[in-house]
Amino acid sequence: MNILYLIRSRFRGPLSRLTDEVAPLLAMIRPSQDSKFGDYQANCAMPLKKVLNKQPREIAELLISEVDLSDLCESAEVAGPGFINLRLRNEWIARSIQSVRGDDRFGCVPVTESRHVVVDFSSPNVAKPMHVGHLRSSVIGDAIARILRFAGHRVTTDNHIGDWGTQFGMIIYGYRHFVDPSAYAKDPVAELARLYRLVNQLTDFHNAKLVLPQLYEQRTEKQTQLDQAESSGDPEDKKYRKLLKGVRRQIADLADAIKSHENTIAAVDESPELQEQANAHPDIARLSRQETSKLHAGDSENQALWDEFLPACLKALNRVYDRLEIKFDLTLGESAYNARLASVVSSLKEKKLAVDSDGATCVFVEGNTAPFIVQKTDGAYTYATTDLATIEHRVRELDAEEILYVVDKRQEEHFQLLFATASLWEYPDQSYRHVSFGTVMGADNKPYKTRSGDVVGLESLLDEAVQRARRIVDENDDRRAEPLLSESERARVAKIVGLGGIKYADLHHNRDSDYIFDWDKMLATSGDTATYMQYAYARICGIFRKLKVDRESLSNSSDVVLLTVPEERALALQLLRFGEAVDDVLSDYRPHLMTAWLLETSGCLSRFYSTCSVQDAETPELRQSRLILCDLVARGIRTGLSLLGIKTADVM
Ligand code: ARG
Repeated sequence: MNILYLIRSRFRGPLSRLTDEVAPLLAMIRPSQDSKFGDYQANCAMPLKKVLNKQPREIAELLISEVDLSDLCESAEVAGPGFINLRLRNEWIARSIQSVRGDDRFGCVPVTESRHVVVDFSSPNVAKPMHVGHLRSSVIGDAIARILRFAGHRVTTDNHIGDWGTQFGMIIYGYRHFVDPSAYAKDPVAELARLYRLVNQLTDFHNAKLVLPQLYEQRTEKQTQLDQAESSGDPEDKKYRKLLKGVRRQIADLADAIKSHENTIAAVDESPELQEQANAHPDIARLSRQETSKLHAGDSENQALWDEFLPACLKALNRVYDRLEIKFDLTLGESAYNARLASVVSSLKEKKLAVDSDGATCVFVEGNTAPFIVQKTDGAYTYATTDLATIEHRVRELDAEEILYVVDKRQEEHFQLLFATASLWEYPDQSYRHVSFGTVMGADNKPYKTRSGDVVGLESLLDEAVQRARRIVDENDDRRAEPLLSESERARVAKIVGLGGIKYADLHHNRDSDYIFDWDKMLATSGDTATYMQYAYARICGIFRKLKVDRESLSNSSDVVLLTVPEERALALQLLRFGEAVDDVLSDYRPHLMTAWLLETSGCLSRFYSTCSVQDAETPELRQSRLILCDLVARGIRTGLSLLGIKTADVM
């Protein structure tokens, strides 16, 4: 059920008799911001003023007389310049809520036009430990996949892991020259991660040595430019002030870049061991790239190393997914497409889309200055090539109708070029979507890191969440005259609360925005948190326990729902709007619209509690009606959370 769509469908006929452009007008029928304007508001009379050459109020009156809403709404009202305020009939709400009793789907029927959607998410680069950035893709992607399925679409989730890129050459190089065999035997993934960081560090060191002199020179030039400008020029002149500001900013940016390179050099200089390694491997960047291209060209030794490394890396990833309770239908990494890469490049060349550019093979997409490199000078294929081959596979073999890429917004340019190239190449009618998201920041407003400077690993983050949640669960249960939870139940609930807290904290932000990672906010027991929703759920379970009412029997009983006070009405209506939340999420793949529904629902619930007693309701019928409402709220919270990959517990 989607009340909004139902109302819009009633307006469609009458509107189409007035104009051809109905869709944008229907979109102007929205839920009201304020309940004093009714439950829904239709603002479509205003834009018709020019078309019909009539006053909007007059048009609004005309629409009201034409649209048949009598079963659904009380008489519609025209307000202000021509808004139409609609208030649903109490009988309609009561009847509808009656019909969804015991229904976890709140009357949402599967879509009639189901699409096959491939959701590419999580997709970390292996051999680097997963960090909080990968969490976003994993959690957002999982929620979107669940909600698409709930709505009735066919979904294939695919973890497109990075197991074929430059980082593998770096690991192979690191393994050949720096491996600590006993550390590798003990924990291969940790050792590979160390090797990766080491090769990265040495590569950055040599690069810093190379570019620093140029940066110093640029800074001197800019400083001279500034000195000259400062001694001439008119401080009253706006253009001049703008120029000074610009140069100063450039100097500040240069200073930042210089500082960062100096730090890179200092870190190596401070350690005799690193210094020695840096001196012994001056050409490390090129040689690691060469290892990648050898791997791509089928070199048997590199392939053997890859075969050895990969299972351990996958095992480490799967440990995280098990803990996150996230599953994939497919885990087809970049390497799965190796056999297709040569033909992708030759096909692009044949179609004259890819051309030689300084020895590399590139596609130039109109309107973009950056080339889309599909084969490097040394013969290695790229992220672009594997992504094109992946599209070919998804369209041809999987019959995907839509492909979603849940990936950091910093990759926007890559996806723009990818979709444009794929459309020019073979697949113009395919629907592609980069579902992008922002960065997780620390309290210092920089990407979230631990004190030691590492990006926080995901496993330790999950551990900490569960530990913190455990304290909440312990405190809660210890406060009871008779604790309800055994040791193992406390541990189970702590997992549910900790994991839920982390997921919800991520999902309740609009995905585009960066957000600050904050433990206290995340596990706060009130506000927009999973913990609060989980509490609300457990509290309802507590009511049923206390009153010894079997929840299942409620859905079968012949009692009816009574809406005697505005708080009951508001709660019932909010529950009926569950379907709107599902559709809202899917209209632009924004899971925070589901958390918004949960927050609103919990708000309605607490207003309901403050005016309506369940246990001491005035009549047995009213008590029964309120129990039915409570049961439905519990179902709503449970279903809403489960669509976000979050569980509930009956006792917390
Ligand atoms: N492995 C990439 C990264 O960690 C993300 C891959 C996203 N999916 C894709 N088909 N490009 O940045």
